[in-house]
Amino acid sequence: MANLSTRFFGLELKSPVIIGSAGLSNTVEKIKLLAENGAGAVVLKSVFEEEIYSEYKYEFDKQAEINDNLEYLDYFDYEIKNERVIEYLNLIQGVKNEKIDIPLVASINCTSGNDWVFFAQKLAQAGADALELNLFIIPSDVNRTAEKVREYYFATIKKVLNTVNIPVTVKLSSYFSDLAAMIKELSETGIAGITLFNRFYNIDIDIEKRSLMPAKVLSHPFEYQKSLRWIGIMSGRVKCDLAASSGVHDYPTAIKMLMAGANAVQVVSGVYKHGYNFVKEMVEGLNKWMDDHDVKSINEIVGVADLQHAKNPAQYERVQFMRYFGEFDKDVD
Ligand SMILES: Cc1cc2nc3c(=O)[nH]c(=O)nc-3n(C[C@H](O)[C@H](O)[C@H](O)COP(=O)(O)O)c2cc1C
Repeated sequence: MANLSTRFFGLELKSPVIIGSAGLSNTVEKIKLLAENGAGAVVLKSVFEEEIYSEYKYEFDKQAEINDNLEYLDYFDYEIKNERVIEYLNLIQGVKNEKIDIPLVASINCTSGNDWVFFAQKLAQAGADALELNLFIIPSDVNRTAEKVREYYFATIKKVLNTVNIPVTVKLSSYFSDLAAMIKELSETGIAGITLFNRFYNIDIDIEKRSLMPAKVLSHPFEYQKSLRWIGIMSGRVKCDLAASSGVHDYPTAIKMLMAGANAVQVVSGVYKHGYNFVKEMVEGLNKWMDDHDVKSINEIVGVADLQHAKNPAQYERVQFMRYFGEFDKDVD
């Protein structure tokens, strides 16, 4: 049997298949099941900054601001409830009491580096083994400069790192004009890992009603390529571990992410679509592939096909379909 252990969240994981942040892990029983099926770690659904203010409203005079900000909460399995913050802490304590032996990672979705940061300490005290920050502001404000956006990321991370003594990782979107520089600089702040990339609530248009409607929530298997490219480009150039998220729907895709330079993959849509057994299939598939190819440990394959090892590194940075203009054959995928 190959050794599937790897490192992410600054922690030793038994397998590189991490359950990404979503409602999949909202009870102790589900987390237990995910661990039994071979998950390397579980990231809980994010607590939203607004919820923290909402719960602690007597301590913070933030309510007006919160009420203007609810569009962040549009993930489908989501319903805002004040007591969710307390339930969240109870869930962490419940998992710890059950002695489920995989790391439990709390997640905070934050859009400002504000006073909510004290709550990170509460998560650590409840027993969270690490904290993933789901940081994002949609860059749609025509008056907000890239510099301001950067400031928010670095200030928030600094505050959190100064507050907690558990490992902190960040999950990013790809919406940066200087993505490579940003990832590199963030990796030098003292965080333990970076997850590329988050997937957001998307919109679509109903052409009959001429109005907006929600797009499909779950990812498709072909959506892994952006993460693959950027993991490959950043591998070996960052000072923390990398995890891949978005479109990992089977073990071959997980192997590709590892070869591009990820230490682990995060899965969500695959579990929603195929059930909790999906995790077991991923882990078994990975194990078998490694045995068949005489790969003894995950470390042997991490980064073997990254930008720095690619025979033709230019492929990572080639984005235009130059070769295909004029001669694209529709029968070729
Ligand atoms: C229903 C649903 C809820 C999600 N909720 C969160 C969340 O609270 N915090 C977060 O960081 N990501 C959240 N995500 C994003 C996932 O963690 C993951 O990054 C994304 O779905 C891409 O992975 P996938 O292709 O395996 O689904 C959610 C995704 C889905 C589908």
